[in-house]
Amino acid sequence: MKKASCSINKKYKLAEIDERIYGSFIEHMGRAVYTGIYEPDHPEADKDGFRKDVLDAIRECNVTIIRYPGGNFVSGYDWKDGIGPKDKRPTRLDYAWFSIEDNSFGIDEFSDWLKKAKTEGMIAVNLGTGTPKDAGELVEYCNIKSGTALSDLRIRNGHKDPHNFKVWCLGNEMDGPWQICQLSADDYAKKAKEAAKIMKWVDPTIELVACGSSSAEMATFPEWDRIILETLYEYVDYISLHRYYEYEGDINNFLGSFFDLNNFINTVKAAADYVKAKNRSKKTMYLSLDEWNVWNIKDMQLKRWQKAPSIAEDSYTLLDALVVGGMLCTILNNADRIKIACLAQLVNALSPIHTEKGGGVLKHTTFYPFMQVSKYGRGVVIKNLMSCDNFVSDKYGKLPTIYSSTTYDADNNKLTFFSINYDRENDIELKLCLDGFGSLEIIEHLVMDGNDLFASNTFKEPNKVIPRLNPIKKSIGKEFDIMLPKLSWNVVRFEVKG
Ligand code: AHR
Repeated sequence: MKKASCSINKKYKLAEIDERIYGSFIEHMGRAVYTGIYEPDHPEADKDGFRKDVLDAIRECNVTIIRYPGGNFVSGYDWKDGIGPKDKRPTRLDYAWFSIEDNSFGIDEFSDWLKKAKTEGMIAVNLGTGTPKDAGELVEYCNIKSGTALSDLRIRNGHKDPHNFKVWCLGNEMDGPWQICQLSADDYAKKAKEAAKIMKWVDPTIELVACGSSSAEMATFPEWDRIILETLYEYVDYISLHRYYEYEGDINNFLGSFFDLNNFINTVKAAADYVKAKNRSKKTMYLSLDEWNVWNIKDMQLKRWQKAPSIAEDSYTLLDALVVGGMLCTILNNADRIKIACLAQLVNALSPIHTEKGGGVLKHTTFYPFMQVSKYGRGVVIKNLMSCDNFVSDKYGKLPTIYSSTTYDADNNKLTFFSINYDRENDIELKLCLDGFGSLEIIEHLVMDGNDLFASNTFKEPNKVIPRLNPIKKSIGKEFDIMLPKLSWNVVRFEVKG
């Protein structure tokens, strides 16, 4: 068996974790809303039409913030279509996904649903076909208590208390040619600045996210980020990053996604810090990685003008779960700058949770690493000094066979070590040395692994790829020998005894 070692010292704190890094995303895309979270004639629907079985699964994965209503969808969306009596709401063509939108679920339903999902919202405004005035009016409708035309309209629509959404995105991927009303960096910066001014005048307590480049592959990356920040730096709190990885036939390249994501984050940080220096600003620009995931179905063949068609319903594999685990460790290891992150998305479209219309709920493989990191990855991130072999990826060169992140939750006296063994042949015995915490007791070691990297969960076999308990020698101390099976995702939990 191969050996490796890792030193973790309480003194070397990387970051406080902002719990909003365990966010997700619900877009009016495919079956995310309709027949996903909202299906009034489903046997599990509550009086508002929300599926209780889906709410249970969402609460189980401890999602801390949910971005809504898009995504590409938002760039053609008039939020006023989705309020008031349902029988008076217009049916429209959604140009983003070529779908029919009947508007039976809108901002008020989303707010009601969030309360049941026990999470909060992050609202995107339309800076495609929409205007800064529309954006300001949406903030007024949602966040002003009463006494104005739009806040009183919300009250008449059955919502006495304001929704009080705190985080707002200034459009979505406005650099992308696929976006409804794509903008140049200069035009976006001007429009977003005027929207930001109005939105913060309406509610000065809100936080704003500017659209960064829609991916590292854009020819305009990272110039777009520099240009828009030069105008928006003092008006916004975060710049957004979006990153999806796809399995293209080479396992090692795909496994190396954690490394590429780290490079992407570093480049956006550098662009933001350059502008900070250039603008002589004292403020640090934080990052909102508000779309990230594995996205394998790229050729989506959108069928025109159907209501809630099936779009991007990936059935994720063990390999995908390992990649998601690696991305989660990268997010944790950058928690000093990433304050918000959204797994895109949550239900049906590109999602850990899958539903059948009229039927059951299925948890894909990627549900588990996300749920575990969100549940146990609280408190602070501590630096890991890892000594291990390398594996080689054509795309990224030599990468460590073990990638990891450690969180320490002082309030609950818990320490959690998350790691992936990328070695395709060998289990690795890892010596973990934990200094500065006093004695620790190992609680459990959860593993996701298996002989078939391409195995998925299905309604027939819903538990084919789920975490299992790895046998451990119960012990108390500071040094632990942990066996990381080949190609595995690992969560090792400790109680700090002091
Ligand atoms: O999450 C799916 C889509 O991916 C979003 O609508 C868009 O922002 C991104 O390109």
